[in-house]
Amino acid sequence: MKRFFRMFFFLIVAGFTFYSCTFTGSLGGGKESGMSRYIRYPTIKDATYVGSETCGGCHSEIFERMKGNIHMKIAKFEVPGYQTGCEGCHGPGSKHAEEMDPTYIINFKNLNSFQASDVCLKCHSDAKMLHWGDSKHAMVGVSCMGCHDVHNGKDEYLLKETTALSLCSQCHQDITSKIYLPSHHPIREGKIGCDGCHNPHGSEVKFMLRSVKRLNDVCYECHQDKEGPFLYEHEPVSERCTICHEPHGTVADNLLKQNEPFLCLQCHEFHFHAELPSNTGTPQVGMGAGSMTRAFTTRCTICHYQIHGSDEPSQSLGGHGKALIR
Ligand code: HEC
Ligand code: HEC
Ligand code: HEC
Ligand code: HEC
Ligand code: HEC
Ligand code: HEC
Ligand code: HEC
Ligand code: HEC
Ligand code: HEC
Ligand code: HEC
Repeated sequence: MKRFFRMFFFLIVAGFTFYSCTFTGSLGGGKESGMSRYIRYPTIKDATYVGSETCGGCHSEIFERMKGNIHMKIAKFEVPGYQTGCEGCHGPGSKHAEEMDPTYIINFKNLNSFQASDVCLKCHSDAKMLHWGDSKHAMVGVSCMGCHDVHNGKDEYLLKETTALSLCSQCHQDITSKIYLPSHHPIREGKIGCDGCHNPHGSEVKFMLRSVKRLNDVCYECHQDKEGPFLYEHEPVSERCTICHEPHGTVADNLLKQNEPFLCLQCHEFHFHAELPSNTGTPQVGMGAGSMTRAFTTRCTICHYQIHGSDEPSQSLGGHGKALIR
């Protein structure tokens, strides 16, 4: 029994040693500041900072190319506790500069997406990135470098592509193909970008929508007239615009998921003409000869044109006056 415990103990120690060697290797799990508790990328043991000029001595091409880059212009006081220049991202370079060994430098080729993003997040951890951790992008393993090219990015946001559309379409072809359908948001016309509605860094709302509370708020930002409040609301409208609309693009007009009347007939019975008033309080909707055919060939909104809500009572034919017809 004693032997068993000794063996057990040995295995634990051996296992632990193996673990530390494999996973930290020459890159120790050291700390750079008080943030180290959260930081998952490796740091370089016993190395010190040498300054970007030193890196430029061997990586002259990159050094020249990076000259105008915002990261090379950061002042020390902007990132207290962190190094600026090349080593702000690549870690202290003294050992690497001496031995020219690429394992003695933070090399993004050897980092997984979480580690790579953490290099950036040590400085970019302000409110704008609050929801990064629980964004779909982070969760499925897209790192900052899925969209940013920090060395070569041309625009102010150091993006891989110059427009949000060409950037997002690299991975979202199914969605971007929809904007070529007859009805679409003017995305390819350049009036709004994918980021007009989405925050690629995540948000509180499902589908990473640029909103603080709920889906409709995103739409209200540009379509204020649909916000109300209306005296006579249409319930699905106040619930979610996407019950009827597919924001990326549709075959039907007005970004509608289906043409009328079929869209409406999912929830309502068809009728064409309102008939005479009834005394019972129920409107007598037209079911006369030909009405069915006409119902199927007409848009309900030629009459119910205030489909998003109205403040005017309809001429209530014994109904309750909220027929959304004026
Ligand atoms: C004395 C020359 C020298 C200096 C100084 C130097 N490097 Fe290197 N670096 C190299 C060589 C050589 C390689 C290996 C290149 C290869 O394997 O293709 C390398 C590789 C790298 C890599 C990995 C590249 C890859 O494709 O895997 C990175 C990142 C890097 N260096 C960053 C830096 C940074 C940051 C500094 C400044 C702190 C720096 N280097 C200073 C010579 C140097
Ligand atoms: C803002 C962070 C950041 C700064 C600052 C930075 N790098 Fe990099 N570097 C990266 C990332 C990220 C990659 C990996 C590229 C990728 O995956 O898109 C990289 C890749 C590299 C490579 C590998 C070869 C290549 O071109 O991909 C070398 C070498 C390198 N950097 C050297 C430098 C030098 C030298 C400097 C300073 C002049 C520097 N880096 C400044 C983040 C940075
Ligand atoms: C040493 C701290 C530090 C690190 C590490 C760092 N950044 Fe930055 N970055 C800054 C500062 C400071 C600015 C300029 C101020 C600002 O706009 O936030 C900046 C600017 C940017 C900008 C342009 C923002 C704008 O408003 O124009 C982008 C994009 C960016 N960084 C992405 C990254 C990515 C991606 C990484 C990881 C590869 C990274 N940064 C690593 C400190 C850092
Ligand atoms: C899915 C693509 C994508 C990913 C992944 C991504 N970004 Fe961005 N980032 C963008 C776009 C697009 C912009 C341009 C501004 C906007 O639309 O919000 C941007 C802007 C920025 C800015 C400037 C923000 C501002 O509002 O001034 C910073 C800083 C930044 N990104 C850092 C990061 C960091 C750090 C990561 C990783 C943790 C990251 N980004 C991951 C697409 C992305
Ligand atoms: C007018 C606002 C708006 C614009 C512009 C927009 N989206 Fe969306 N997107 C939405 C809404 C709203 C949803 C949620 C859809 C739902 O509830 O059915 C969504 C959902 C998505 C989804 C998740 C879809 C799924 O079924 O999993 C992706 C991916 C997406 N959008 C990518 C994009 C891309 C890429 C672009 C640019 C070509 C873009 N979006 C432009 C509003 C927009
Ligand atoms: C490097 C690839 C890549 C790029 C570039 C990229 N995405 Fe994504 N995105 C993904 C992956 C992978 C998923 C998860 C699977 C899916 O839903 O398609 C995702 C998911 C999403 C979702 C769904 C979120 C949810 O909660 O279901 C939206 C919205 C989205 N991306 C928007 C964008 C926008 C906007 C851009 C451009 C600024 C962009 N993406 C660029 C890879 C990418
Ligand atoms: C960033 C601004 C912006 C946001 C956010 C926005 N839209 Fe739009 N929307 C537009 C623009 C611009 C047009 C085109 C108007 C025009 O051509 O007159 C448009 C047109 C439309 C149309 C009519 C399309 C057609 O074929 O005529 C519908 C429907 C629509 N948006 C629904 C929505 C919904 C639903 C949302 C929320 C998911 C939303 N929009 C969010 C800017 C926006
Ligand atoms: C019950 C289905 C339904 C819902 C839910 C709905 N819409 Fe509509 N929407 C329509 C119909 C039908 C049309 C076409 C109206 C017409 O042809 O007169 C339309 C047209 C539009 C248009 C283009 C024409 C115009 O009036 O400017 C915009 C923009 C629009 N909707 C935005 C929204 C927004 C924003 C929401 C969420 C607040 C929303 N819709 C919710 C059915 C709906
Ligand atoms: C997702 C289901 C749904 C769709 C699709 C839908 N509606 Fe509605 N609609 C409702 C609900 C729920 C009410 C509220 C019913 C109530 O108060 O009894 C309502 C109310 C109405 C009213 C007011 C009458 C009343 O009793 O309040 C009219 C008129 C109306 N809808 C017309 C339309 C038209 C026209 C379309 C197609 C453009 C349409 N609806 C699409 C669910 C829907
Ligand atoms: C020719 C005009 C016209 C057309 C087309 C039309 N309606 Fe109506 N609808 C009316 C009138 C008028 C009323 C009664 C208004 C009132 O009660 O004051 C009404 C009432 C309604 C009501 C409310 C009944 C109630 O409870 O008060 C619903 C729901 C409705 N219509 C749905 C539809 C749908 C769905 C379509 C398309 C298939 C459609 N309508 C097509 C004129 C029309």
